[in-house]
Amino acid sequence: MKETSFVLRGGIAFSESPHGITTYYRGYVVCVDGICQGAFTDLPEEYKDLKLYDYGERLIIPGMTDLHVHAPQYSFRGIGMDAELLEWLSTYTFPEEAKYADIEYAKKAYEYFADDLKRCFSSRAVVFGTMHNEATIELMNQLEETGLITYVGKVNMDRNGGVDLEEKDAEASLQATIDWLEAIDGKFVNTKPILTPRFIPSCSDDLMRGIGKLSKERNLRIQSHLSENVSEIAWVKELVPESTSYANAYELFDTMGTPECPTIMAHCVHSGEEEMRILKEHGAYIAHCADSNMNLTSGIAPIRKFLDAGINIGLATDVAAGSSMNMIKTMLITLQASKMYYRLVDQEVKPLTFEEVFYLATVGGGSYFGKVGTFKKGYEFDAVVIDDSKMFSMRDMSIRERIERMCYNDADAIIKDKYVRGKKVFTSTTI
Ligand code: GUN
Ligand code: FE
Repeated sequence: MKETSFVLRGGIAFSESPHGITTYYRGYVVCVDGICQGAFTDLPEEYKDLKLYDYGERLIIPGMTDLHVHAPQYSFRGIGMDAELLEWLSTYTFPEEAKYADIEYAKKAYEYFADDLKRCFSSRAVVFGTMHNEATIELMNQLEETGLITYVGKVNMDRNGGVDLEEKDAEASLQATIDWLEAIDGKFVNTKPILTPRFIPSCSDDLMRGIGKLSKERNLRIQSHLSENVSEIAWVKELVPESTSYANAYELFDTMGTPECPTIMAHCVHSGEEEMRILKEHGAYIAHCADSNMNLTSGIAPIRKFLDAGINIGLATDVAAGSSMNMIKTMLITLQASKMYYRLVDQEVKPLTFEEVFYLATVGGGSYFGKVGTFKKGYEFDAVVIDDSKMFSMRDMSIRERIERMCYNDADAIIKDKYVRGKKVFTSTTI
């Protein structure tokens, strides 16, 4: 029997829409050839011959998607958090990323990153590397080994990075990108390249235009940063004076993508009506990074408004501006941030519900990868099995309550097993 065909039994929870969480107490979820066949109270006859893994009282939820994370920043997460964005980049981030010119340094640091990503709630991630080809290929090699499914970008930056973190000019940056794409061509199954102009202050007009062209020619997706910080936005207006908004500047360079080849824009903290219209028109994804936006005093993105407008949204840790890769913690901060936006900024904008945030962490970001993020029939089978037995309670709790409790009090939720497209990629040896 195929290893990617089996049945899991346990406390199952998943989203079918942003408005509810479907649960089964001691239910079954079926995977055939890596594809989910649905969740059931009683196991249908046709699946009775499949191997059954009974997880008893443990919880089984879909794998989560971290839609924006910087691999080279993992080693300094949680440090230097009193600065705002532009000072944080020049003081901490750029000097750290410059070290990835040294492949031995990169190898060692990326081992920690890849191993920790394998052990957390994410089954998928969209990852920034650095501008260095060799280090980025090493990162891709290591991520491929984990069995996770990722997009990884060699970063483009030809201005404002300082002497140690700047490509010579647009031509050199574009040539390095082509060399990188050639070097990895056909090498990976689960690790895809994504074009990664860091943000407009890091990329000359010629470089941005070149990236837009390359994206079109090779049908490659793009990831970048948008409207994170007020000083950054003012700087972009100086750099691209003809733009009507930061999003429009990306649009002028043909880098906002299409619904078939969507661009991910991290943050959008200060995106107003025009940027919302542009994001929607292009079918772009917002990677909402609530932890990062708190840490760098950037602000709170009005996610309720973006959801109501029908813009694609996923959640993201944005390590190292976000301080951990724990998507459950990211869900909690997303909830808390939206509650404070409602209380302190605009009482017309209702807080996100727990159901909505669970949906964004699973299906919202998962949809960037296709049919991913839920246990509905036909979706790729990514699952995380969680042991919450250390969370003492005198109450009998529903599956829904246990998922919410885990989010608000994550310390005692232990990941037992993780599956990606039907393949077990991690198992805990301690429980
Ligand atoms: N904008 C440009 N680069 C970065 C980065 O590395 N982190 C964050 N949070 N914002 C950025
Ligand atoms: Fe970022």
